[in-house]
Parts: sequence; C-alpha cells; structure tokens
Amino acid sequence: MNLAIFLYVNILLLFLVLLGVIFKFNTAIFIFIFIIMCLITLLLFVYVAYFIYSLIKENKNFVPYVPTPMKIVKEMIQMAGVKEGDNVYDMGCGDGRLVSKASLIKNTKCIGVEWKMDVFITAKIRNFFRRGKAIIKQGDMFKEDISNADVIFTYLLPRAMDRLEDKILKECKDSVVIVSHGFIFKNLKLQEEKHIGKITIRKYSK
Ligand SMILES: C[S@@+](CC[C@H](N)C(=O)[O-])C[C@H]1O[C@@H](n2cnc3c(N)ncnc32)[C@H](O)[C@@H]1O
Repeated sequence: MNLAIFLYVNILLLFLVLLGVIFKFNTAIFIFIFIIMCLITLLLFVYVAYFIYSLIKENKNFVPYVPTPMKIVKEMIQMAGVKEGDNVYDMGCGDGRLVSKASLIKNTKCIGVEWKMDVFITAKIRNFFRRGKAIIKQGDMFKEDISNADVIFTYLLPRAMDRLEDKILKECKDSVVIVSHGFIFKNLKLQEEKHIGKITIRKYSK
C-alpha cells in the first residue's frame, strides 16, 4: 500500500514539473520538486530491497499479506462466538480488520500481531479510523504470549500454521477457540467448517 502511495506522489510531482514547464515556475521550485522526487524514488528502492530481503530471510516461513474479505471477517467473528470479556488474538493480523472489528464487541481485549512494518502501520491507521479499540503490535507472533487467549484468529500458510499449532497446544487454555481462514490445523480438534464461495473457515478447539 505504501508502495502505491509513493508511486502516486511521484506521478503527482511529475505532473507538477510539467505544469512548471508550461507556466514557467522559477528554478527554486523546480529544484525543490526534483529533490522530493529523488527522495521518494530512493524510498521506493529501499522498500523494494527490504521486501526482497524479507523474502530471502524468511524463506519458507514467508506468509504474504492477503486480507480476509470483510464478509468473511464477520463470519469468522460469528463462528468464534466472540463475547464480552474475551481476549481475542489475530496471529499475523495484516491490516488488523479482524481484531479491529471484534474490538467493537463490549469489553473485549483484542490484540493483533503483525511483523511487516508497512502493514502494521496500515493496521494502526485502520483501527484508528474505524474507532476500533484493538491493540496492534509490531513483532513476531511466535514470541507473543497467548496463554490468556479465549479466541485466536488466523490466516496463514501451512508451515506457519504448523508452528502456530504447536504454540497453541503448549501455551493456550483448554477452552481456547481457534478460527482459521484457508489451510487446516492437523492436530487441533475440528468443531465446525463453513464454505462461503471459494473460501473455507474452520473452528477448532484444543
Ligand atoms: C494472509 S495475511 C492475513 C492477514 C489477516 N489475518 C487477515 O485475515 O486479513 C497473513 C499475515 O501474517 C503476517 N505474518 C506472517 N508471519 C508472521 C509472524 N511470524 N509474525 C507476525 N506476523 C506474521 C504476514 O505479514 C501477513 O500480513
């Protein structure tokens, strides 16, 4: 998303330069616009380099940011049966849509953990504008203490799901409810499965 914003800003500046040529802006304004364009282009390069670096570093544990459609978000919250007083987690929360929405349920404590900085910032902004009360944390979800979780949401790839499953089995209360979008957990107990178009969501217990 930030990448797109940078691109739009650069295109806008290019447009300003064209206007400058037509309406003969003075040199100082041209130099100013040129410096800003250079800085944004540099940021774009850094962003792309960081993305490639994280792809290489995370190797097979890499999970891309793909948001759950809002219609499915509602279904997942309903399937989990989030209720007053619940501690709710989204492990790899993306733009925070699940926890932000769930936090509108009275007295819930909703925590989203996301390690990609740009996605994390998007989640913070989204949560603010949607009046969500979720806590969005930047970091590795595998380092998050989830021992008090009543509900866990997740949408990951199989390798990360296996790791998360081990963590849930080790750390969570017996009463924890897990609702996943997409891939399956192999050792948790499947309680419910729902197909909505091409999407499958599942509810598990320990
Ligand atoms: C497929 S997206 C799902 C986003 C969100 N849960 C949703 O359903 O809309 C998976 C997200 O998990 C994040 N993620 C993957 N591994 C992670 C980790 N170890 N710690 C924190 N976030 C992680 C990715 O950056 C990505 O944004």
